[in-house]
Amino acid sequence: MAADEPLVLGIETSCDETGVGIVHGTTLLADAVASSVDTHARFGGVVPEIASRAHLEAMVPTIERALKTAGISAKDLDGIAVTAGPGLAGALLVGVSAAKAYAYALGKPLYGVNHLASHICVDQLEHGKLPEPTMALLVSGGHSSLLLSADITSDVRPMGATIDDAAGEAFDKIARVLDLGFPGGPVIDRLAKEGDPAAIAFPRGLSGSRDPAYDFSFSGLKTAVARWIEAKRAAGEDVPVRDVAASFQEAVVDVLTRKAVRACKDEGVDHLMIGGGVAANSRLRALAQERCERAGIRLRVPRPGLCTDNGAMVAALGSEMVARNRPASDLELSADSSLPVTDPHVPGASHDHGHDHDHVHEVSKENLYS
Ligand code: KG4
Ligand code: ZN
Repeated sequence: MAADEPLVLGIETSCDETGVGIVHGTTLLADAVASSVDTHARFGGVVPEIASRAHLEAMVPTIERALKTAGISAKDLDGIAVTAGPGLAGALLVGVSAAKAYAYALGKPLYGVNHLASHICVDQLEHGKLPEPTMALLVSGGHSSLLLSADITSDVRPMGATIDDAAGEAFDKIARVLDLGFPGGPVIDRLAKEGDPAAIAFPRGLSGSRDPAYDFSFSGLKTAVARWIEAKRAAGEDVPVRDVAASFQEAVVDVLTRKAVRACKDEGVDHLMIGGGVAANSRLRALAQERCERAGIRLRVPRPGLCTDNGAMVAALGSEMVARNRPASDLELSADSSLPVTDPHVPGASHDHGHDHDHVHEVSKENLYS
């Protein structure tokens, strides 16, 4: 690690985790996270207003904890990065306001960055610089996309995305039907280990020869699983929870890995990165490894703690922005709940390349789990 590598603090508040990370070059120095997930659990999904309040309460203590862990003073920083979007408008606004306040008070450059590009860039903290190009499969509670990145600070191209539910959302909804609590991914992952993935043949969405090659759909699968469970219950039979979990999980990860490997092959890309909360799934990791090996593709998946939302990923992308001399954002930076994935960062007004969004007023994606 060179002494002149950028020292950047990153703030993430797009959903229910208040994350503050500190990165030096591609070395992680601190990753402090305060989660409000327990407060949302009884509602079966993230409640935006509760998330925003929790961010507000956790923000300053989490920043102080990160600085202490890293053993640095805020004045040593080379920049402050923050998730500018996409995400919950009110939640994003808390992080953006905090980042602006720190940047202004400390006289440091501010980098408003894209949450999805951060999920990809975080892998640099674990496996070193990203190869260019890299194919990325991003699967979380809010998004499921296949992205091709030639330069994570400036060039991210969408290959495909879900046309309905996100992969993590499907895990959460099936867990709700099975009364397993929220979030559903970790518990389904655990139960599936004791079940038979071939017990029930659940449908593979958008997998026909005429279907779009890289788009996903999980809503039909969700309905099929719910109907199957209802039928069992109506017949007065026990629901084999472990087999349902394993068979459902297999249907999701089969489609995800098949499409991701196909996209790599079609584009001649020999590296696949998987990120987002669902990348913590043990079966997804194993099947991706198996299929990538067979296709001669190198797989990169960060450790589970870096896959779910955190501040380190934002700091990782901010650090790359500084290293590549990308323009800083100005203090007019606003949260953009539907920031397109094609904008890895939000430069200052003088560098704006013309996309025009409704900024913090947009509410359409507020409840990602509705
Ligand atoms: O990236 P993330 O922390 O937040 C969003 O941006 O959405 O992802 C959270 C999602 C939830 O839907 C959760 O159920 C899912 O990731 N998840 C998992 C696992 N761990 C978390 N899904 C499947 N298997 C897991 N082990
Ligand atoms: Zn995320």
